[in-house]
Amino acid sequence: MFFCSILVLAVVEPSNTSKLLDQIFNVHYDVTMKPTDNLTVVTVTPNTFILLAMDQQAETIQFSQEFLLKWFDPLLHWNPQDVDYERDWVKVPATKVWLPDIIFTNAIEMSELLSEDQQMVDLHYDGQMRTSRPAVNKSPCPLQIADFPYDVQHCNVTIGPWNFDRDAIQVQSSTLLVLPEKNRFEGNSEWELIDIREFRSDNYDVIMKVWFSEITYTVTLKRKPVYYVLVIQAPTFILSALTVFGLFTPNSSEDERRTKVEMSLNMFAAISMMLQLVSDMMPKASRLPLLGNYIVAQVFVVTAATIASILVHTIHHHVYTRAIAPPKWLRNLILFECCGKNKRRVAESRAETARSQDITQISAELRVFEPVREALLQTAIFVRDTIAKMSRIQENQHIWMRILDRCDLLLLVAFQVANIIVTAIYWK
Ligand SMILES: *[C@@H]1O[C@H](CO)[C@@H](O)[C@H](O)[C@H]1NC(C)=O
Ligand SMILES: *[C@@H]1O[C@H](CO)[C@@H](O)[C@H](O)[C@H]1NC(C)=O
Repeated sequence: MFFCSILVLAVVEPSNTSKLLDQIFNVHYDVTMKPTDNLTVVTVTPNTFILLAMDQQAETIQFSQEFLLKWFDPLLHWNPQDVDYERDWVKVPATKVWLPDIIFTNAIEMSELLSEDQQMVDLHYDGQMRTSRPAVNKSPCPLQIADFPYDVQHCNVTIGPWNFDRDAIQVQSSTLLVLPEKNRFEGNSEWELIDIREFRSDNYDVIMKVWFSEITYTVTLKRKPVYYVLVIQAPTFILSALTVFGLFTPNSSEDERRTKVEMSLNMFAAISMMLQLVSDMMPKASRLPLLGNYIVAQVFVVTAATIASILVHTIHHHVYTRAIAPPKWLRNLILFECCGKNKRRVAESRAETARSQDITQISAELRVFEPVREALLQTAIFVRDTIAKMSRIQENQHIWMRILDRCDLLLLVAFQVANIIVTAIYWK
């Protein structure tokens, strides 16, 4: 009894919507045919655009989008006064009406979120149609990496009819500029969406000799550089700074200098690894990006520092084994030695001469012990000369030590300044 009444109700009382649809589709309607020979204008409204991924090596962007399409179907309409249906819009399955073949013409991959028979079209009583096809798309986006990691990319997404030429279907955008908005127009964690701009970009088919209507949305994305600054730029700076500090710490013995050169080679390997990291992220373009140039510049700084340190090491070895007196100009240049110190040395040598005269005078009074005196004198002169020579050697070595230390300090400052200048140049 209960089932019977439901059945009877269902049969007797169809919904207003279905009554309306029956009435609308009472006309002869072929879903495969464009309903009018006249121009159909399709208005495109971006409703969502969320960047999912940017594949930098393949130079593609993947995004989730929903673009609303609006057009006019002259065959489908109703008079609100005549029917028992109070709304202006009615939902119609997309399979039951003709849909313009508007697609993303430059997409290389697309996965629709709704299957074909789940899609609906809104139909207004005057024949206006409205639908959207939410999908995840992939489009090519050639990258301009010269400024990496401070780069801004412009990716073109084109949309238009595939089969119909400009006389049959035209697309137009309802908006010229779309600004970022939370959950609707967004970048991802690495890329910030700056804006989306619309351009008309009708293209001419040379083979069919017809124009196709098309619009281009240029999506401007700005990279958030923090990751690259923290993971690549800062460590490179620190590595270079440490290498320079390590190479030119003052008060080094000869062995220490050799160890330092070896250490700098290890640092070198670490910095080259940074370059590898950068090149792995980038498309294999003919130009290095900004960050790559920075690392190459740092490699040059570290190389120059290593060469300077090897030179200092060589000088160190040379002067220590031969105990050469440091040239005066070098002392003046590096130790900023003035005349005062030299005067003292002249005075010292005068004193030495005086002392040797004393020895001669005293020996004159001991004429009796002539042979002994002669031998003693010889020994005394020899001892004196040896001591003088040794002290001269020691003094020379001491002065060299001071010169090399001062060199280390000057080079340390010079290369550290070079490191900072290079970093400042490449830091935007
Ligand atoms: C095409 O447009 C013309 C003028 O704009 C109009 O008179 C005609 O009825 C239209 N044809 C159709 C099939 O809509
Ligand atoms: C993107 O489209 C705009 C407008 O049509 C054009 O000026 C620009 O060159 C295009 N960019 C690329 C990378 O194709």
